[in-house]
Amino acid sequence: MQLQLSTWQEVEAYLERATAIIVPIGSTEQHGPNGLIGTDAICPEVVARAVGEEEDALVGPTISVGMAQHHLAFPGSITLRPSTLIACVSDYVESLTRHGFDAIYFLNGHGGNIATLNAAFSEIYAHASLGRTERRVRLALTNWWDGGDVRRVSNEHFAGVEGSHATPSEVSLSYFAYPEAVKSASLEPRVAPSGRFRDAEDYRRRFPDGRIGSDPSRASPEVGERLFHAAVRDVRKDYRAFAAGGR
Ligand code: NI
Repeated sequence: MQLQLSTWQEVEAYLERATAIIVPIGSTEQHGPNGLIGTDAICPEVVARAVGEEEDALVGPTISVGMAQHHLAFPGSITLRPSTLIACVSDYVESLTRHGFDAIYFLNGHGGNIATLNAAFSEIYAHASLGRTERRVRLALTNWWDGGDVRRVSNEHFAGVEGSHATPSEVSLSYFAYPEAVKSASLEPRVAPSGRFRDAEDYRRRFPDGRIGSDPSRASPEVGERLFHAAVRDVRKDYRAFAAGGR
């Protein structure tokens, strides 16, 4: 059940039977020579929508732009500064809690969001702890790729070439979601270098085609379909535990 495809009366009726909601959060950033710029938003969005159907859970609109300052030396990448993302997540949560939602499950598609999302959660909890609001909310952050079933499928197909950015797993899942957007590119070297980075210029100098440690030429919609079903299984279990108050 998608918030955007619902009426306010339907949301009011939902709140009679449930007070949890799923919010996909991603990024709009380069994903190497054959990865889509929307990869990190597309992946959690398609998984969240399927979980929402299976679990009769409401799914909010995707926060499609995240904290991606290190990708800005590549055309098309967009970032929110950490302070902006904290403000964005806080406003999103306050809007939802005003209506009675008290458990908000962020399904994340971008590693670069994690530190800022946790800081946003601390800001929101601090607001309550300091007595600025009577409303209480439980927040969760889950990365779509972290579950056991997804890791098994990734290892089976991409052991040693998964890397950490523009991974064959995320590129596969985005290709499954949008087969009309599958790209091909020759990658040199086949497996990208690994390492750390600071700002956007530093990132581009170290990782000239945008990838980190990965070989996404191995990506395919077929593996993407397996990853999709694995992620839906993993996230359903995790969401159900969260909605029931168990995590
Ligand atoms: Ni990504």
